[in-house]
Amino acid sequence: MPFERKALWAALALSCVLVANGQMVDLLSYVAEAPLAAVLDASVQPPPRTTGFETLVPQENIRLHCAKPSAAYYEEVFFGDISVGQKINFSQPLTVVIHGWTENSNLTQYNSLSSRYRRFVPDANFCLLDWRPYAQFNYMTAARKSVPLVAQLLFGFLQNLSVLYYPLERVTLVGFSMGGQISALASKSLSGRIGTIYALDPAGPLFTHPFDVGTTKRLTKTDAQFIQVIYTSRYAIGMGPIVGHQNFLPNRGYHPQDPCKSLALSLIKSIRCSHEYAVTLFTATLDPAAVITGQKCINILGSPLCIPGIGVTDRVGIHSKRFQGDFYL
Ligand SMILES: *[C@@H]1O[C@H](CO)[C@@H](O)[C@H](O)[C@H]1NC(C)=O
Ligand SMILES: *[C@@H]1O[C@H](CO)[C@@H](O)[C@H](O)[C@H]1NC(C)=O
Ligand SMILES: *[C@@H]1O[C@H](CO)[C@@H](O)[C@H](O)[C@H]1NC(C)=O
Repeated sequence: MPFERKALWAALALSCVLVANGQMVDLLSYVAEAPLAAVLDASVQPPPRTTGFETLVPQENIRLHCAKPSAAYYEEVFFGDISVGQKINFSQPLTVVIHGWTENSNLTQYNSLSSRYRRFVPDANFCLLDWRPYAQFNYMTAARKSVPLVAQLLFGFLQNLSVLYYPLERVTLVGFSMGGQISALASKSLSGRIGTIYALDPAGPLFTHPFDVGTTKRLTKTDAQFIQVIYTSRYAIGMGPIVGHQNFLPNRGYHPQDPCKSLALSLIKSIRCSHEYAVTLFTATLDPAAVITGQKCINILGSPLCIPGIGVTDRVGIHSKRFQGDFYL
């Protein structure tokens, strides 16, 4: 090869390296993230969707159903709905529940959560956000594309309410798993003005591990005025870092949770059991008579030392006194 050609190739190769260098971090994280996402994809039946994301129309595939405080029925609130004032009582608080990956809002656990919430918090508007078509994509697509998209629509809905003088501090978001991250992203865009987030074992894979995407892209303390996180599968399907104002840590937040210990399940199903335990706990504690408390412990070289009777306690869930810190149970 003539010398000029060699030089040209060398220069080209060098410029490729330089261009690639900016994307190097992305590439490296993809190499580590893809296998984790693949394990999660392999654990769901039917296999998740891999194509057709762009052909879905968000406004038709992300649905919001709300019930006014006294109403016996839910009404669909459309995006840009001009009759939102008739579907939500603006003088009462508003709660929105957001399901997780591969789920929808009409599963047994959400029916149970909804009926108990409405029964024990009768003065609130209650909405279910259903993003099922987007939740059916493979984990990588759902985490990287569905979550920001759904969050953007939820943000638009809440922002429109605030334009109509609905006070955002009266809004409560309850999000499980990827729903927890959707709550976070929607609230972030509203500069932390949302009153409360209950993040039920918010999703960890591709948010905090193997790489932390950073506080602008996942749940963090400043997203809302008060954030309670219930951790039940830290660094597995749940988020690793402790980020809430108030954090409840059954079994220190790790798998296996009590009801999931003796189950003859595959590892991933048994971790999923621990993951869902956050919803179970939250739902159980909606009843003011169902008192489940966590306790603050002494931290010794990074390990909590819990002495019964010593240390502040607080209740898991909506009846919490909102003491800040980490509570073990
Ligand atoms: C917010 O309001 C604008 C203007 O009316 C509308 O176009 C948009 O669809 C609304 N967004 C949501 C999510 O409701
Ligand atoms: C909205 O809630 C207030 C306060 O409870 C109540 O007085 C009012 O009648 C409700 N409005 C509608 C339209 O239901
Ligand atoms: C919820 O699921 C049940 C049973 O699968 C079904 O009969 C019902 O129509 C569903 N409701 C909604 C609102 O989709």
